[in-house]
Amino acid sequence: MEHDAHAVAPTHSVPTPEDATVDDWAREDAEPMPVDSGAAPAEVAAADSAADTPPEPGAEGAKEIESSLQSLELKANVTAHEDAQEVEDEVEETKRHLNVVFIGHVDAGKSTAGGQILFLSGQVDDRTIQKYEKEAKDKSRESWYMAYIMDTNEEERVKGKTVEVGRAHFETEHARFTILDAPGHKSYVPNMISGASQADIGVLVISARKGEFETGYEKGGQTREHVLLAKTLGVCKLVVVINKMDDPTVKWSKERYDEIEAKMVPFLKSSGYNVKKDVQFLPISGLLGSNMKTRIDKGICNWWDGPCLFEILDCIEVPLRDPKGPVRMPIIDKYKDMGTVVMGKMESGTIREGDSLLVMPNKSHVKVIGISLDDSKVRRAGPAENVRVKLSGIEEEDIMAGFVLSSVANPVGAVTEFNAQLQILELLDNKKKEADPKKKPKRKPLFVKNGAVVVCRIEVNNLICIEKFSDFPQLGRFTLRTEGKTVAVGKVVDVPPAGSPTF
Ligand code: GTP
Ligand code: MG
Repeated sequence: MEHDAHAVAPTHSVPTPEDATVDDWAREDAEPMPVDSGAAPAEVAAADSAADTPPEPGAEGAKEIESSLQSLELKANVTAHEDAQEVEDEVEETKRHLNVVFIGHVDAGKSTAGGQILFLSGQVDDRTIQKYEKEAKDKSRESWYMAYIMDTNEEERVKGKTVEVGRAHFETEHARFTILDAPGHKSYVPNMISGASQADIGVLVISARKGEFETGYEKGGQTREHVLLAKTLGVCKLVVVINKMDDPTVKWSKERYDEIEAKMVPFLKSSGYNVKKDVQFLPISGLLGSNMKTRIDKGICNWWDGPCLFEILDCIEVPLRDPKGPVRMPIIDKYKDMGTVVMGKMESGTIREGDSLLVMPNKSHVKVIGISLDDSKVRRAGPAENVRVKLSGIEEEDIMAGFVLSSVANPVGAVTEFNAQLQILELLDNKKKEADPKKKPKRKPLFVKNGAVVVCRIEVNNLICIEKFSDFPQLGRFTLRTEGKTVAVGKVVDVPPAGSPTF
C-alpha cells in the first residue's frame, strides 16, 4: 500500500455463496416450467465444498442463548456499565455501516468515482493526487489519476483496468461506508461476484459518453450481467449514476441522460428491481467530482434539481437483518495470521469474542478469538457487517470459500441436492427441444431455452451450505457460471429434510 491516508485492500477472486434480499428476482409474468431432473451445473457459485465426515455438533445451545442475552443486556445497560469495551461497542453503533459495491461495464468510471469520493471526503491529500497525476502522465494515461486511488497495483495502473476488488472507507454525516470497487472487465466477473456478495447497496456506473453507454448495455457488455448478478447476490438498492456527463460528447445533455434512463428502467424492472422503491438515478462527473459531495452548480447543469451522490447514500435505507437470529456468515476468503482468519459478511446473528461456533459443512467446532471491522478490532459484530474473524480450532487449509460460519445450536444445512427455480440467461439455443411452458412435458426435457424459468433438481458433488429461499433468502440464491459466463440465476425452492444431504 503506497499511502495510508485510506485503506485500499484487495479482496480475492472467489465465486461466493449467494445472499439476497427478501423480494423476488423472478419476473412476475414468468411461468415456471417443471423439469424434473438434472441440468447439472458446471459451476455452482456457492462453492462446492469438501465433505469430510466431521464430528457431530455438541449441545452448546446454552452459549448461543447466553451470547444473545449478552447483546440484549449491552443495549439496555450501556450507561450503567461503561467499561472501555462497551464504549467501543457503542461507538460502533452510533453511525450506520453500509457496504457499497461499484459495478458496471469496463471503463464506465467506477474507480474514478470511488477515488473521487475518497478525495472529496478528505482522505487523500493534494500531494498524493499530484503524485498520481504525474504517474498517470508518465504512463500516458493522464485522465486516470483519480482511478489510481482505488487501483493500487501496477498491473491495474498500466492497463487501466481494475482486477481485484478495491476496498476503502469513508463517512458521511449519518453513515460510514465501505466501498468495494469491482472490476468491469468480463474476465474478472468472479471478482465482481465476490464484491457484490458483500454489499447491500450497488452504485451502477454508466458512461454517458457517445458509444460507451451503447457498448456497455449491448449483449456482451457487462451492464446487464452486473445488474442481474447484483440482484441475485443481495444488492437490494441501486444508485444508477450516469457518469462522464462532462464529456465533450455529452456536455450535461438532459436528452442523453433521459435516453439512458429510459432504456435502463425496463431492464432494471425485468431484473427484479422495484425501480420506484429501490433505484435512484442521478447525473455525475466522477472525474471532476460534480454532483457528488455537493449538488451540481446550476451554471453547469440547470435541469437537475435532485440530490447529489453523498446525499443519496446518506439517506438510503437497507433492510434490517436479525441481530438475534442464528449466526450465518458465508466465508469468502481466509488467511493465516497467528491463527486462522476468515472474511465475510454477517448475514444474521451476532458474534462476540469467545463464542463457540461451527464451520459448515465440515461441522468443525471453532472458537472466536478476535473480530475486526474495517481496520479496527471490536468485541462484537452484527448483521450486515463485513468482518474478519480469527478462529481457533481449525486450520486455514480446512476452510474453503463458500463454507459458512454458523451457530452451534442452529447450524446452516449442508446438502448435495436441492430443488431450484432457475432463470436461464445464456445457453446455446437448441431448436429441436423447444418446450411449450403451458404443456406438461411427456418426457424429461433435455434442454431449456434462453430466458426460460424452470424448476429443476440440482445435484452437486460435494456438500454445500444453502437454505430455502423462503426461510432465509440470503442463503437461498445462487448463480450458475460456466466458461466465464453467467448462465443462470436461481433460488432454492426446496432442500432435503433437516440433517439429510439428499431427498
Ligand atoms: P474497470 O475497472 O476496468 O472496469 O474501469 P472503471 O469503471 O473503474 O473505469 P475507470 O475509473 O478506470 O475510468 C476509465 C476511464 O474513464 C478513465 O480514462 C477515466 O479518466 C475516464 N472517466 C471516468 N470518469 C469520468 C468522467 O466523469 N468524465 C470523463 N470525461 N471521463 C471519465
Ligand atoms: Mg476500475
